[in-house]
Amino acid sequence: MSTANGIIRGGSLNSEFYDFACKVMLIGDSGVGKTCLLVRFKDGAFLSGSFISTVGIDFRNKVVNVDGSKVKLQIWDTAGQERFRSVTHAYYRDAHALLLLYDVTNRQSFDNIRAWLSEINEYANQDVVIMLLGNKADMSSDRVVRREEGEKLAKDHGVAFMETSAKTGMNVELAFMAVAKYQVIIERDLRMRKTRRQGDPKFSVSDYVDSQKQKSSCCS
Ligand code: GTP
Repeated sequence: MSTANGIIRGGSLNSEFYDFACKVMLIGDSGVGKTCLLVRFKDGAFLSGSFISTVGIDFRNKVVNVDGSKVKLQIWDTAGQERFRSVTHAYYRDAHALLLLYDVTNRQSFDNIRAWLSEINEYANQDVVIMLLGNKADMSSDRVVRREEGEKLAKDHGVAFMETSAKTGMNVELAFMAVAKYQVIIERDLRMRKTRRQGDPKFSVSDYVDSQKQKSSCCS
């Protein structure tokens, strides 16, 4: 069953029960590490070696526990290649959260973030949670995008920001858990709406990740 804001409540996944579900999409240029980020979160492993580009779109589920609620994260891994764009656009509309990745060792992938944000504006739901992730933060000697540049871009667009590494696992869990936590808070908010007073403090994904994230040791 869906709630007013589209969150799906209750159900079971391979006999594992959950309280509600949330759709998360991984987007960004080809090669920035979307599939690796998903595999790191889902299986705790790193896909090294030859790079096999995603074709079209695929998803994996993971149920996580947030403050006593079980949240099924349905994580959609999209192909970054231009030729698949029209396929992936169709999936934006009902996503609750978008993890938008660039590669800190690839300036072009960072420069393309503004174009990705325009696509989000055009195709995604207005209430979607957006998190900008500077991935491959472990590659300090190859870094060409400073952390401060990512922070500034995120601030300019009012979105949360973190650097991640699918290789070491840095901030990967946090990125997905912040999204899950946000959905739990929205759900509880909906239930309490009648009693909630205007001006009560609201959960901010940006403030939450800022308080929890690990900073990469190098930002040359
Ligand atoms: P498309 O499917 O074409 O959109 O690419 P993608 O964004 O899914 O990239 P993918 O996850 O396949 O990773 C591309 C390459 O980057 C692979 O060779 C990975 O091993 C490497 N890679 C991904 N994440 C990291 C990371 O955090 N650190 C390092 N060092 N390498 C990474």
